[in-house]
Amino acid sequence: MKLTDTQIEDFHRDGYLMLPNLFDAQEAAVLAENAEAVYALDREEVVREKGSKSARTAFAAHQYNEAFARLGRHPRLVEPVMQLLDGPVYMHQYKVNAKAAFDGDVWQWHQDYGTWARDDLMPEARAMNIAVFIDDVTEFNGPLWLIPHSHREGVYEAGHDLQTTSYPLWTLDNAKVAELAGQAGIFSAKGEAGTVLMFYSTMVHASSPNMSPWGRSIVYLSLCHVDNHIRQFKRPEWIAHRDFAPIEPLPDGCLRELAPAAAAE
Ligand code: SIN
Ligand code: MN
Repeated sequence: MKLTDTQIEDFHRDGYLMLPNLFDAQEAAVLAENAEAVYALDREEVVREKGSKSARTAFAAHQYNEAFARLGRHPRLVEPVMQLLDGPVYMHQYKVNAKAAFDGDVWQWHQDYGTWARDDLMPEARAMNIAVFIDDVTEFNGPLWLIPHSHREGVYEAGHDLQTTSYPLWTLDNAKVAELAGQAGIFSAKGEAGTVLMFYSTMVHASSPNMSPWGRSIVYLSLCHVDNHIRQFKRPEWIAHRDFAPIEPLPDGCLRELAPAAAAE
């Protein structure tokens, strides 16, 4: 799949691009069923919310679940990123974020490349996220908030937050967020299950807790140009991958072939 010139222009200008309903309801249902199966696993990659049994993030789900493995090689995700990064890509990080009903906790303001540069020594911001909404994402269940245009100035100063949630993150201070949001506002990325969101790895983003009775799973592929692979292996392999082989996209129907009942492992 290829992006149009207008979509590419929008992406570079705003720092993000929404592709509503890129996956259909059947494909989203396959992902939803498999997300539940993955959250139920007792594995170190499945991180729980602080003080709760609710899953927060299932890292590297493409390594132990067939549906997520296929999604990690899906041409509707991999090809547009290859187009934008101008060459072959590998999977730097893969996560299914649950944001469980009532329990899903905050993700503080951050830039992903801030963490990849500091912790993994990724040379350049030649990497980006492409996310698929597994559930409908609404104003109620903790949508991702993005500050438009905040991708343009590289990496901002950040503090290492090891306290507020169950996952360490390099986070921006309130003054910087207020300055950036004061200029460009905040975009709340909402959409039906199957919608895709792509954003720069330098984009400033966050999400609030989920106080609603509706869960909100989103799967994030963090793809990096193969020449720009990480140079430091401080974090576990299942958080910052070390297989730099180019991803070979699968046929477009790869997910649809998995009937929901047959897909769960
Ligand atoms: C992230 O920024 O990596 C995750 C945020 C979210 O899923 O709400
Ligand atoms: Mn992030």
